[in-house]
Amino acid sequence: MTSMLAADSSVARNDLDDALWWRQASVYQIYPRSFADANGDGIGDLKGVTSRVPYLKALGIDAVWLSPFYPSALADGGYDVDDYRDVDPKIGTLEDFDEMTAALHQAGIKVIVDIVPNHSSDRHTWFLEAVAAGRGSAARERYIFRDGKGEHGELPPNNWTAIFGGSSWQRITEPDGTPGQWYFHLFAPEQPDFNWKNPEVHADFETTLRFWSDRGVDGFRIDVAHGLTKNLDPAFDHLKSVLSGQDLFEDGQHPIWDRDEVHDIYAEWRKIFNEYTPPRIAVAEAWVEPHRRARYASSEGLGQSFNFDLLQADFRAADFRKIIGDNLAFAADSGASTTWVFSNHDVVRHATRYGLQRTGAQDEAQIMNVGGKQWLLDGGRQDEVDTELGLRRAKAATQLMLALPGSAYLYQGEELGLQEVGEEIADEHRQDPAFFRNKGVEIGRDGCRVPLPWESQGSSYGFGAGGSHLPQPQWFSRYAVDAQEQDPASTLSFYRRAMALRHELQSAEELAWEASPNEHVLHFSRPGGWHSITNFGTTPVALPEGELLLASAPLEDGLLPANATAWLRA
Ligand code: NOJ
Ligand code: CA
Repeated sequence: MTSMLAADSSVARNDLDDALWWRQASVYQIYPRSFADANGDGIGDLKGVTSRVPYLKALGIDAVWLSPFYPSALADGGYDVDDYRDVDPKIGTLEDFDEMTAALHQAGIKVIVDIVPNHSSDRHTWFLEAVAAGRGSAARERYIFRDGKGEHGELPPNNWTAIFGGSSWQRITEPDGTPGQWYFHLFAPEQPDFNWKNPEVHADFETTLRFWSDRGVDGFRIDVAHGLTKNLDPAFDHLKSVLSGQDLFEDGQHPIWDRDEVHDIYAEWRKIFNEYTPPRIAVAEAWVEPHRRARYASSEGLGQSFNFDLLQADFRAADFRKIIGDNLAFAADSGASTTWVFSNHDVVRHATRYGLQRTGAQDEAQIMNVGGKQWLLDGGRQDEVDTELGLRRAKAATQLMLALPGSAYLYQGEELGLQEVGEEIADEHRQDPAFFRNKGVEIGRDGCRVPLPWESQGSSYGFGAGGSHLPQPQWFSRYAVDAQEQDPASTLSFYRRAMALRHELQSAEELAWEASPNEHVLHFSRPGGWHSITNFGTTPVALPEGELLLASAPLEDGLLPANATAWLRA
């Protein structure tokens, strides 16, 4: 089977009608404003993506997922959408979008776009209408407006804290100029939450899903998929950490998160997805209890759900093994395949996380907090990161991930081995609301959103002919695409080789654990004789018999060194 697929892999990837393409796809996440800038204004754009399609094709990915490119004031990196059915004029036009999609499809790459249904921006027509229309109006019913507490309504309806800090309620000024009602926002005040009890909200998102599906989009990534339906009954007011998700209920009755009725929405959406050939796919960003992922991933629902377990895990064999086993079982429950991911636009790049501490575990709080970058404040300074170790482990982990059944998500720049940018981004250049609203606590997510270095020389390292909307440190030069393309030992060459092999070796979604020399080594095989062995320990280990296909670090006297993965054909 392998040789046939090898010869034909480009044909297989070009088959845009294959309804099951997503099950073991590799999906590359593009953060459009930081990928490539075609017109030199310092902001990445859709033409920039189009210009880099040959690069994406050479990387061997099956799909791209584009973070929001819609009109936005960028109060939250584009996750504050002014208009769901247009392109931000700062980064292109709908024609550019069509051109980009056509070029990607031509290269056999599918297109996934981000849908942000929990909240719009406060510049969305509906929100402007809601404020203008006044108390009790139908327009206000599209959002979550309440009267304040206190004698003059001067206090927020409750004391909940938004995810980016501050109150989760914001007071508006009524059309007559008086202080007025309050609206609810899970995230920044510029991101008012929709009222999903309102049928108009349902209808509008259905229109949006059809709009992009009709334009040829292959799938959707659903932002905050577990947060849309809410029960803001005052009975819950006393719950303190309600928005952080730390007190997730498992009974589907939490006031905000993972409520059972959220699935009614996705059942409606599924009908729309299935109107298309092949059916459009969707993947939920749902931070829920692992066993509750299955409903998001079911074929009556979105169809797939992110699992962020490896992203939050220590670099330890036992932890990886448990997570892999559990998630393959959860996936089997839902009938979907699972998704694996180490890096995205919300978290510290894994090449940096893994270099943060020489041996010990990564503290979850250092990594997450809606991607909070607490690690720079309380977890360590940039100069304490062992970048070499970090990259070495990141490559080992990624190679392991690429051998797993299910889909693998890569984040732009990880194929270059890019490190997180830390203190080098001065406060005045920061963009993330998590930084501004949580000063001194969170450094924010800008450090993983710095524009890519395409060339070792030049003003923005080949990002564009002009500058870069977030400053790139000098060391970005060392990671540039042009140099790595020439170097067979580069991280980019490693990723390309790994992706090509993945296409060649990928078969049934099965995994068997194999005996390993010690507890720090994970060895599994896939049907067809594909073996993956990762050494999480500190001493080199012997490899089993077989043809060595790829190793994330050079073997030492024929042994697999520490912090490395090898693939064998046996
Ligand atoms: C999750 C997105 O990945 C993140 O970037 C964003 O800030 C929040 N959702 C709010 O939309
Ligand atoms: Ca531009």
